[in-house]
Parts: sequence; structure tokens; C-alpha cells
Amino acid sequence: MRAAVLHAFGQVPQWEEFPQPVPRDGEELIEVTAAPLNNIDRVRADGSHYSVRSGEYASGGLPAVPGVVGAGRLPGGQRVLFGSRCGTMAQYSVASEQATFPIPGGLDDAVAAAAWNPGLSAWLAFGWRCPLQPGQTVLILGATGVTGKLAVQAARHFGAGRVVAAGRNQQVLEMLSGLGADAVIQLGQPAGAVAAAFNAEGGEHGYDLVVDYLWGRPTEILLGAIDRGDAHLGSERVRLLQAGEMAGSSISLPGSVLRSAGLEVLGLGTGTMPPPDVIRRMLAELLDLLASGKLHIDIERVQLSAVGEMWTRDQQGRRPVFIP
Ligand SMILES: NC(=O)c1ccc[n+]([C@@H]2O[C@H](COP(=O)([O-])OP(=O)(O)OC[C@H]3O[C@@H](n4cnc5c(N)ncnc54)[C@H](OP(=O)(O)O)[C@@H]3O)[C@@H](O)[C@H]2O)c1
Repeated sequence: MRAAVLHAFGQVPQWEEFPQPVPRDGEELIEVTAAPLNNIDRVRADGSHYSVRSGEYASGGLPAVPGVVGAGRLPGGQRVLFGSRCGTMAQYSVASEQATFPIPGGLDDAVAAAAWNPGLSAWLAFGWRCPLQPGQTVLILGATGVTGKLAVQAARHFGAGRVVAAGRNQQVLEMLSGLGADAVIQLGQPAGAVAAAFNAEGGEHGYDLVVDYLWGRPTEILLGAIDRGDAHLGSERVRLLQAGEMAGSSISLPGSVLRSAGLEVLGLGTGTMPPPDVIRRMLAELLDLLASGKLHIDIERVQLSAVGEMWTRDQQGRRPVFIP
């Protein structure tokens, strides 16, 4: 079969011949119809994601086929989303029954495949990891990305009272009110202006939940802004959900902000997933909303043979989806 093949960490995958995977007991062969290029695929391929210490890259070694999720056809013709130990950026893959999810009628394979990783992350953020109380104030750091845009919509879906969206790309920022943001913050401004905007847009009450796809400097500016530095009666809670690291892999965390601002830090990622029934329920809800047009994601269909050109391109808020 033809596939995107990664030969060494840090290299760009190449479109070439690769042995077709053979299903093990309990697995089915899947004819792949769509395989999105998510950021997790990039950081796994450069060797920096924690998940490469286990899984197929560690056990099977390289060369290997990238791609953690995809859409395809089972031998009986059913359309499914699937996750695979063998990678998804290929003409064929394999998946166990537990790792396949039906695609609702009327929903395009490429759209469903594109939405799984970023959409489920957004759904799990508000619906499971940091359950949102109706009316709460939410800040999304990195709201201009594919995942951030879905998080804006998820915050609305789960009943946020106020949604503040922060990012750099002005064109995308301007679209976010149409997805449910009440206010946007331009992160390209000088740090002082960004800090002032964080305080102004959070209002007197401040943020109940920050979903953070950036980390690094923008997060440090936020923490400086919410550090009250004064005695404060009445307990307040700011949950900071660490979900991505586009602006840096670490931050400097002043102890005072934990004490003065009621900051609580949690993480969400492949190492902090809920039980399978929660994933199935959330994914089904997400796919139904997509199928009924109530949830929006921008995608760009690309032939898988162009994997090398697409691999390092800035996505500008759109998710590339490879068609084998
Ligand atoms: N934990 C999870 O479950 C989960 C799931 C999905 C994604 N993620 C992670 O979330 C992050 C974003 O994913 P995505 O799908 O939204 O990616 P994306 O569509 O490629 O968007 C990238 C985002 O990062 C911003 N960005 C990049 N470099 C930046 C910098 N130096 N300073 C400030 N902003 C910067 C971009 O801002 P502009 O476009 O405005 O410049 C854009 O908002 C990634 O780290 C990804 O791995 C985590």
C-alpha cells in the first residue's frame, strides 16, 4: 500500500510504499478515507510528545505510519472513526472494536475525522475534566487554533455565561464572535496591554475556568494579571486547564498566585482520559452536533501524497485532512 512514512524522529514523513498492516485477533482491516494532521501527530513525529515513550513508535520502532485518528470503511462497508496502533495516514489501517465509532449519516468522513481530536478535547475540558457551572466566565488561550475555536463553541454549549477568547491572528479573532465569544484579546500586543485586557475582560468576578492551549509566555502574563497581591476574604477559584503548549513547554509559576488568586492547575491530554463510556458519549454528542450543522470546524482536504509539503505549514485555524 501507499502511506506517509516516518523514518526518524524530527524528519518529515514521506509518501511511499509500506507493508499493509495485518489485523490481530479482535481487529479489523480498515480502508482509510480521511486522516487529519493534528498537532499531536507533529509532536509525536518529532519525538517530543510524552506518548512516544509507549505505543507503536516505541514497540514497533521506526519506520512507522503517523496519525492517531482517522475515518474509513470496515470490511462490511460501515463508515467509522477509528484510532489505530498502526497509524492512520495510509491507504489501509487496522482497529479493534473498542477503537471504532460509527459516523452518523450525513456527516462527511473528513469533517468527522478532523473534529475528533480537537473537538473531543474541547468537550472533555468543559464536560468532564473541569465541569462548567452555568453562567461561569471562561477564558480560552489559543482560541484562534482549530481546537481553540471548538473550545469557544463548547464553552457556549456547556452554558458559560461569558466567553473570552485570546489569540494572535487578527483575521481569525474577528470570526470568533460568530462562534460564541463575547470578547477577544489580541495576544500580539505588548505584555502590559495583554495583562490589562485579561483583567478588563474578566470583569470584577474574574475567570472561573481558563482552558490553555498555549502555555509559555501568554500564560505567565495571565498569571501575573490575576495575582492579586493583597489580602482577600471569600474564597475564589480559578481553574487553569493545561491542554496544549504552542507558546512554550514550561512556565515560571510564582507561588503567590496560587495563594492569592485561588489558582488550581490541572491537565488534559492522552494521559488523562476518562473511562471509554464517557469518551463514547461525548464523541457521539459531538458528531451529532456536527452532522446537524450546530458545530463548526474549518478543514482543508489534501491528497496524502502531499504530506511532505503540508507537514510544517501554519494551519491558520484550518485542519488539513489527508485523503489517501
Ligand atoms: N490535550 C488535548 O486533549 C489536546 C487536543 C487537541 C490539541 N491540543 C494541543 O493544543 C494546542 C493547539 O492545538 P490546535 O489544534 O488549536 O492547533 P492549531 O490549529 O495549529 O493552532 C495553533 C494555535 O496556537 C497559537 N500559537 C502558535 N504559536 C504561538 C505562540 N508562540 N504564541 C501564541 N500563540 C501561538 C496559534 O495562534 P495564532 O494562529 O493566533 O497565531 C493558534 O491559536 C497544541 O499544542 C495541541 O497539541 C491538545
